[in-house]
Amino acid sequence: MKVLVAGGMGYIGSHTCVELLEKGYEVVIVDNLCNSSPEAAKRVAAITGKTPLFYELDVRDEKGLSAVFEKERPDCVIHFAGLKAVGESVEKPELYYDNNLGSTITLCRVMARQGCKKLIFSSSATVYSADNAMPLTENSKTGGCTNPYGWTKYFGERILTDIAKADPEWSVVLLRYFNPVGAHESGLMVEDPKGIPNNRMPYISQVAVGKLKELSVFGDDYPTHDGTGVRDYIHVVDLARGHVFAIDYLMSHTGAEAINLGTGTGYSVLDMVKAFGQASGAEVPYRIAPRRPGDIATCYADPTKSREVLGWKAERGLVDMCRDSFRWQSMNPNGYNG
Ligand code: NAD
Ligand code: UFG
Repeated sequence: MKVLVAGGMGYIGSHTCVELLEKGYEVVIVDNLCNSSPEAAKRVAAITGKTPLFYELDVRDEKGLSAVFEKERPDCVIHFAGLKAVGESVEKPELYYDNNLGSTITLCRVMARQGCKKLIFSSSATVYSADNAMPLTENSKTGGCTNPYGWTKYFGERILTDIAKADPEWSVVLLRYFNPVGAHESGLMVEDPKGIPNNRMPYISQVAVGKLKELSVFGDDYPTHDGTGVRDYIHVVDLARGHVFAIDYLMSHTGAEAINLGTGTGYSVLDMVKAFGQASGAEVPYRIAPRRPGDIATCYADPTKSREVLGWKAERGLVDMCRDSFRWQSMNPNGYNG
């Protein structure tokens, strides 16, 4: 079976390519490299012994994408191709709506024309409203997003749900990721954010290897066990494996289904600092800073549906996440640039 992976050179996409190739799937990557490096495919090949086919192309390039579909005839598609920096989306909303929604619509149009109507979409826990009780189930309230990035995921889900409703041949799985962290245990794969990282784990890793001075902990007065924000961190290899399980589901069902990919356990910023210190053998210096606008106190998944519907559950814990993040950061202190 052949899987077209849009955005397959990125962090989650490249880890998913490893899992797909190891399970014997053929992989075709389409990526415009706007937030990734061609080195990712070489690392995928170094781990799996198989080189994925790669087309450097913007998914919004309808003519180019049609040509790839005609040549490769994929059986299904995983759509990772999106911009994901929350702060940037506030500054440049039109860039985010154009890229994230434009890529989704173009992809669907080309897929429908080619008769390939099986799609996995990278959604996010960000689609849930801030006023839900925890844990979040797939029936928790969505909407009320606090930034354009979040709305692109919300509308992306809406568009795909409507497409699946209008044409019963479609099968769509909307995977709502919680907080992906970590890296492949080989240390060869990298999360390579451009510039200063926004998210906690890349930031902590760069502090631990001495690249950044200290972690700013955004707020210590939340109603959590130690006052710092709690999230459901999920190892990226577990997340990547979730996509392989979702393909099996996609092949035997139609309609659109939203499914959480999380562990069901929340950890605070200070839990993570402590675990990272243990995993790396080096203390992670931090200071308490003001709350970050838009942050909520606590966010974690109810993972029941993923277990029941996909037969998947996360297997790696906090220590694995910290150890594997530290390993790749130590082996590749400048990301794929050395
Ligand atoms: P990433 O930036 O590492 O990967 C995205 C890839 O898509 C990059 O290789 C980029 O070059 C490519 N891309 C972007 N726009 C494109 C376009 N128009 N045409 C072709 N290629 C394009 O990000 P990631 O962390 O791997 O995230 C993958 C997906 O998962 C994204 O859609 C993101 O919004 C979603 N997601 C990520 C997280 C997270 O915390 N990492 C959480 C929830 C959801
Ligand atoms: N945090 C710090 N210091 C930092 C960075 C983060 O204390 O330097 C704290 C935040 O305040 C929050 C927690 O660490 O309490 C997690 O923050 P992240 O930025 O790592 O993750 P978020 O939960 O805010 O958001 C991430 C992605 C979103 C995605 C969401 C759910 O950035 O795009 O996970 O998947 F939607």
